[in-house]
Amino acid sequence: MAETLLKADKLKNFINGEWVEVKETTAVVNPANGKTIVEVPLSEGAAVNSAVESAKKAQKEWAQVPAPQRAEVLYRVGQIMKERKERLSQLLTMENGKVIEEARGEVQEGIDMAFYMAGEGRRLFGQTTPAELKDKFAMSQRCPVGVVGIITPWNFPIAIATWKSFPAIVAGNAVVWKPATETPIMAYELAKIFEEAGLPKGIINVVFGKGSTVGDAMVNHKDIRVISFTGSNDTGRSIASKCGEQLKKVSLEMGGKNAVIVMDDADLSLAVEGILWSAFGTSGQRCTACSRVIVHEDVKETLQERLLAEMEKLTIGDGLDESIKVGPIINESGLEKIKKYIEIGKEEGAKLLAGGYELTEDNHAGGNYFAPTLFTDATPEMRIAQEEIFGPVVSLIPVKSFEEAIEVNNGVSYGLSSSIFTSDVNKVFKAQRDLDTGIVYVNAGTTGAEIHLPFGGTKGTGNGHRDSGVQALDVFTEWKAVYVDF
Ligand code: NAD
Ligand code: ALA
Repeated sequence: MAETLLKADKLKNFINGEWVEVKETTAVVNPANGKTIVEVPLSEGAAVNSAVESAKKAQKEWAQVPAPQRAEVLYRVGQIMKERKERLSQLLTMENGKVIEEARGEVQEGIDMAFYMAGEGRRLFGQTTPAELKDKFAMSQRCPVGVVGIITPWNFPIAIATWKSFPAIVAGNAVVWKPATETPIMAYELAKIFEEAGLPKGIINVVFGKGSTVGDAMVNHKDIRVISFTGSNDTGRSIASKCGEQLKKVSLEMGGKNAVIVMDDADLSLAVEGILWSAFGTSGQRCTACSRVIVHEDVKETLQERLLAEMEKLTIGDGLDESIKVGPIINESGLEKIKKYIEIGKEEGAKLLAGGYELTEDNHAGGNYFAPTLFTDATPEMRIAQEEIFGPVVSLIPVKSFEEAIEVNNGVSYGLSSSIFTSDVNKVFKAQRDLDTGIVYVNAGTTGAEIHLPFGGTKGTGNGHRDSGVQALDVFTEWKAVYVDF
């Protein structure tokens, strides 16, 4: 199936509008069955140099194209993505493992971002402001930064790329993009779409390869003026320190330890639905995944029972099958990390109520599957309640009050997403004020953010920048103040 959809057995870099072959490659494996889909280049750092050279040349002209015309390309990109939505979604499921319905949702986020950012091409507002002095005109404008580097993770291989590349392009920059080696197919497909949509050569350059070679060469390249990174905390910190030494602008979107709060006045059916979706969707491998449920002690037993009953109905397998609800884990090391946290949780004294094991039966052979897992009676300081596990593992933490729930929610080093289930309007307003996260949901789970609002988090999740929303433009533009005396 992959062969017929992809029509390639080896991907190529896309530099200066040309498809460039690279000798050394590695296999891209379908996590649902362990089969190789395609080979992906393992480029040397030198490929980054040629990508930057082409980007530098192309960007000078691109910056002179009126922004509404730059936006036209994004409209065409969005249109082509829409026409190819099903094919893109199937390929996404094959390389990443998320179930097909979620893959469609992710591709749709990219389509939405294309049309939304194309609209920004007609705005890109600056300001005029009254000058202090007579016969002087004062204004500010957004200017492109130049060549920008984007580094993306495997868990949202197309959506995150669009959150970064579309605002960069509409603002007049040229892009060098390194996708995750686990999921390069979406990058290859998106580059082809840019090409077909008529984006001038050199404005988007895709260099496949490892973080330690290609990613590092980008971070250290003097002509890349901005790095926009989404990925793990460890990688983000090391990139940030290198950028810091060079005084290079860097935008970091990293991990999360997101919680759903369930109060004693909550609609429990709604809460169970929200928890299931955000804890086990994408097999828990979302930055916004719910891995803690902070529950009022009066409803803990009931919530637990109802969650367990629904978890038993979750079907696990290859996400291309429409009846499957939970797909595989991305790779062996992801699986090992989850297993490690199961042991930690047991040693810490949390009670394992469901799951906690890898699936190895015949119908899961070759893939990396982990059973949806529920711990209960966890305490806030346990490692399973503090650290990002990135798998289908959720821990119930009982609390006695609303105030305690907020404190537990905020007592982690991350601050991406949070949610509260309650029917009390006062708690709703207090929670949206007091939850220390970049995204807050009321009566819905922790995942599913749309593209028209800023996406990102506080504390260890990021460094103050946002992907998506009009705020994404702040990463890829510099403000210029202009004074005209007359
Ligand atoms: P990762 O940090 O391993 O890799 C992310 C990207 O960085 C990849 O392209 C990788 O090749 C590259 N990279 C690795 N080492 C590098 C280096 N030394 N220099 C430059 N680039 C390097 O992360 P991952 O495992 O691909 O993704 C999962 C992580 O991403 C999770 O922690 C998740 O929470 C986070 N994430 C965050 C958000 C968000 O918006 N906050 C969204 C999605 C995923
Ligand atoms: N939109 C995705 C979510 O919120 C990233 O999970």
